[in-house]
Amino acid sequence: MDQLKRQAAARALADVRDGMQLGLGTGSTAKHFVELLGERVRAGLKVIGVPTSEATRLDALRCGVPLTTLDEIDHLDITVDGADEIDPELNLIKGGGGALLREKIVAAASDRMIVIADDTKWVPTLGRFPLPVEVIPFGLGATRRAIEKAFAQCGVSGQMAVRKGTDGHVFVTDGGHWIADAQLEKIEDPARLATALSAIPGVVEHGLFIGLASSAVLAGGEGIRVIERRKPKGD
Ligand code: A5P
Repeated sequence: MDQLKRQAAARALADVRDGMQLGLGTGSTAKHFVELLGERVRAGLKVIGVPTSEATRLDALRCGVPLTTLDEIDHLDITVDGADEIDPELNLIKGGGGALLREKIVAAASDRMIVIADDTKWVPTLGRFPLPVEVIPFGLGATRRAIEKAFAQCGVSGQMAVRKGTDGHVFVTDGGHWIADAQLEKIEDPARLATALSAIPGVVEHGLFIGLASSAVLAGGEGIRVIERRKPKGD
């Protein structure tokens, strides 16, 4: 599996050109991309990156990839990031690693987003992977009820649980928020659910990435498949 992730990362790297400003994703697949990018930088490639998490920032520094912030540059050429699920419209569930907020800010600031994954992430309908919803701890009971109402309005339901870390304590995001993971199984209309969740005051962000991915690079036993988005970014 790790080999497939690395192959997908290597294929995305082929689109990177000298002088590009890159969004650097988070997770085990994106980590391969950062490592391979670091090799190219050490060989003379001139790029600059914006990391989507503290973990990726440290990986990039370790690999010698120069970094900047979205305050210092006005756009990114390409963001390369992993995903937890990818559907045929290239809608995504992200946030399994807890970095969804910065990942979405960076993806939205990019001309293109290339999603890299092994082909087990490809699904006909999103929802088997629990949907991460990043929330403010204050007033969580009210936010939770509003989220459940939004689920019902969008025809989905399922258990929701505040994420815990491996130490058994509540998982806290880089932004200081919590994550509620919702086991919805099938999200028939992800765009509608995304809009409904975004309208809830205590919800900081959610893991539905709608219309952000430009292409997906999927590595499987039979080779690499590149799927291009049909509609322009943002539609
Ligand atoms: C991080 O918050 C996530 O969005 C990751 O991009 C996603 O979980 C994919 O991670 P892996 O590449 O480790 O599967």
